[in-house]
Amino acid sequence: MQLIIDTDVGVDDAQAIMLALTHPGLTVEAITAVSGNTTLDNVVRNIFTVLDVMQAADIPVYRGAECPLLPDLWERDPNVHGGDGLGDLPDRPPTHREVEAEPAAVALVRLANESPGELTLIALGPLTNIALACRLDPDFPQKIKQFVFMGGTISAFGNTRIVTAEFNVHCDPEAAYIVLDAFPQSVMLSWETTMQHAFPWEQYDALAAIPTAAGRFFRDTSRTTRALLQRYPQVPGYLLPDPLAMAILLDPDLIQASSQHYVTVELNGRSTRGQTVIDYLGLHGREPNVEIITGLDTGGVYAMFERALS
Ligand code: RIB
Ligand code: CA
Repeated sequence: MQLIIDTDVGVDDAQAIMLALTHPGLTVEAITAVSGNTTLDNVVRNIFTVLDVMQAADIPVYRGAECPLLPDLWERDPNVHGGDGLGDLPDRPPTHREVEAEPAAVALVRLANESPGELTLIALGPLTNIALACRLDPDFPQKIKQFVFMGGTISAFGNTRIVTAEFNVHCDPEAAYIVLDAFPQSVMLSWETTMQHAFPWEQYDALAAIPTAAGRFFRDTSRTTRALLQRYPQVPGYLLPDPLAMAILLDPDLIQASSQHYVTVELNGRSTRGQTVIDYLGLHGREPNVEIITGLDTGGVYAMFERALS
């Protein structure tokens, strides 16, 4: 598998990238950065840190959008991923890595044209870069082998101040609308599915105790989110939004339940802007464009983490 990762490295993005880097038979061809969990400069720096911790090869990293398509309509909560986007990681290894000169959306279009039908694309943050690529090349979606994204809600149970919206879509609803409209088929890992497939805290503790550089990185970066999550009694354990999206891409056998529906995005709702709207009964009359993942084998995901951190 030849994979491109679009990400707003935050803590769980970093974990998803670690799963990809240690998965057999997979090449990470490029990583594109987008603002979301933290500033774009921090996202680029965080990508380098993950690659350095994992002693990864020189994977090209591209700078993307510094803000959503429409500005000033959302704000970042610094408590979730810390001030630096990696849980305020105390000390980082020095890096020799440098960002490419080419803008992310331009690189996405070029890479797809160089290898039409061969690249798999996963989006772990706001969809701004992907939307820009769709506007630069209207045939971009047709040249992508498979598109998976973490984002959206499937029963209006969100995680932002727009309570029916999930963070990635909430940040840039217009981008999400454009992408879901442009791709004939996407695979969606929602917030509700994330909430229903957490690691029990004992499993989290076992991973955080793995005595390697990657294990210490997992522990040190997840401390902030762990403290936050444990303040919510509804949260069943350590949540894995981006790692779950990555895991089902790496091993589709982990998918235990999914369904196809037409999905679009609300752009104007006073209380619902950024909500993904699912046509469960087919009343829109539009062709289903999204495979919604609702069940997956978290035991298999845990095994991926053990391999990545060990
Ligand atoms: O809502 C969860 C998503 O928002 C994850 O991708 C997390 O990293 C944040 O970007
Ligand atoms: Ca993310």
